[in-house]
Amino acid sequence: MKRIGMLTSGGDCQALNAAMRGVVKCLSCSGEAVEIYGFLEGYKGLIYGDFRMLTGADFSGILTKGGTILGSSRTPFKLMREPDENGLDKVEAMKQNYYKLKLDCLVILGGNGTHKTANMLREEGLNVVTLPKTIDNDLWGTDMTFGFQSAVNIATDCIDCIHTTAASHGRIFIVEVMGHKVGWLTLNAGMAGGADIILIPEIPYDIDKIVKAINSRAERGSKFTIMAVAEGAISKEDAKLSKKEYKEKMKNYQYPSVSYEIADKIQKKTGLDVRVTVPGHTQRGGSPCPYDRVFATRLGAEAGKMILNGEYGFMVGYKNREIVKVPLEEVAGKLKMVSPDATIVQEAKLTGISFGD
Ligand code: F6P
Repeated sequence: MKRIGMLTSGGDCQALNAAMRGVVKCLSCSGEAVEIYGFLEGYKGLIYGDFRMLTGADFSGILTKGGTILGSSRTPFKLMREPDENGLDKVEAMKQNYYKLKLDCLVILGGNGTHKTANMLREEGLNVVTLPKTIDNDLWGTDMTFGFQSAVNIATDCIDCIHTTAASHGRIFIVEVMGHKVGWLTLNAGMAGGADIILIPEIPYDIDKIVKAINSRAERGSKFTIMAVAEGAISKEDAKLSKKEYKEKMKNYQYPSVSYEIADKIQKKTGLDVRVTVPGHTQRGGSPCPYDRVFATRLGAEAGKMILNGEYGFMVGYKNREIVKVPLEEVAGKLKMVSPDATIVQEAKLTGISFGD
């Protein structure tokens, strides 16, 4: 008999359900008796002992369902060691609930912050297996995270729709893409959607270079320009600021987001019509795409296998087209960013895409 605690933490994404289903299907197919404790709303459920007993039936029919049947929430890692408003020691509470329920392990699905806490729980002596979820694809130790490809599809659809209206009106359009501090989503959706300019946090932009790219398109007869801008895009000047200086500057920030600032600057410099579209959380919503359904199922099945073998302390990752076990201490606290020298960036540049650098 295996007693397994499961939770989904951080921002949700597509294929969380598919991944959990993969774990449970693998365990049930093995013939091993299992009890599944589904902690509700991420680490909160583990801290406050808020769980639901789940059976195989709960995982049936959820392969294609977006969101997470367990609910999710953000409990920042930096607050984990701080007592809650009633003085409760959160880490001790999580450990006590784990031991009280006599769990064999925790299956934790999450992104960067989630992995820091998962690693801390491992250091505290709990058995943990994690699965890499995030639309940002910024998790260290895995080439791919589930949710990413589905989000690329949605952001690309958005750029595709903008393309036709931009062409009709001869406008400059900015599509602001999620991704937090990294540019994977913007880079991939931008290339897939045929964006002319792609701005990502890893390659700070120069507004004059952007204007130059727009003007040279106009000189070649293209009246419209499509820009895919990462929500974390940053100018060359701002990238030079220290963290403290940047924070100070942002206190008086007058725009809803970076895209509006860029739009304003382009409008002032060129007199052209610039529009901004922000697909926002739609990028995290809806059904997982087929790639993510397969990928999340594979990761889930491998996690199930690891549990059956008693192998803990790993994230199930994906490297060079193989599913791999990555020690949690290697994953926690590291970001996988786009290298400005990556071949994908060079290839994009070879096809005429400007990064505003
Ligand atoms: O990490 C996933 C993500 O969607 C990021 O791309 C985005 O910056 C952030 O979460 C949004 O967070 P929230 O849902 O808390 O607004």
